[in-house]
Amino acid sequence: MPKEQAKRAKLVIGNWKMHGRLAENAVLMQAVATGATTLQKGVRAAVCVPAPYLAQAQALLGGSVVAWGVQDVSAHTQGAYTGEVAAGMAADFDATFAIVGHSERRAYHGEHSDLVAVKAQRALEAGLTPIVCVGETLEQRENGLTEQVVGTQLEAVLLVLSEAQAAKIVVAYEPVWAIGTGKSATTAQAQQVHAFLRAQLAGKSAAVADVPVLYGGSVKPENAEELFAQQDIDGGLIGGASLKSNDFLAICQAAQNVSV
Ligand code: 13P
Repeated sequence: MPKEQAKRAKLVIGNWKMHGRLAENAVLMQAVATGATTLQKGVRAAVCVPAPYLAQAQALLGGSVVAWGVQDVSAHTQGAYTGEVAAGMAADFDATFAIVGHSERRAYHGEHSDLVAVKAQRALEAGLTPIVCVGETLEQRENGLTEQVVGTQLEAVLLVLSEAQAAKIVVAYEPVWAIGTGKSATTAQAQQVHAFLRAQLAGKSAAVADVPVLYGGSVKPENAEELFAQQDIDGGLIGGASLKSNDFLAICQAAQNVSV
């Protein structure tokens, strides 16, 4: 039987990483909020800002069509964990999303998939949508381990979540070798991994099979539309290009162009 065309809304989320200061954030947030007013229902946009700027996001994006979130949350709800930010704290500022398991956290902070799973749980408990990042290194890809690596990373999260919780997550496939390098995965490479992840999600339930699976890694206005047109690519997690309002809005427009 031919596979039914996916009808999921497109989601474009900026990950500002450790960039920005109050004054430049204000310019960027206002430009994005204004530009995004032309987006139709089929596209949702959000920015994940450094935690100190959540209040600014709430003030400047509140009431706009652009949602906001954080780039990490603690695995704990409260306590003597110096420097950490609890999911509930982000929720206090009306955050919608929390990235968990970004490859930069895995690489520079030693985060493993079991910890990422707990962080996803904490985010869900606080009413946030976790964006669970998975992705292989170049060496792993070259050794034919891509599916094994992303499959293991996702499975750790699916194992600890109930079906109802798992149906509320977002997954982001971000090949490590494509992040910040200007070298995006080809649409075929990305679609292949997305289809694999979709099948794994479908193993949990039909509702879980329908969660958004985003692509991240050197998404730009020039390649966004082709990527987003793929059957199992429901949008993007955008790093560098999310720091320029015109580029971010052009990527949102690309999502609009292919949305159903
Ligand atoms: P770039 O878009 O800068 O490659 O970053 C991708 C990313 O890591 C988003 O989380």
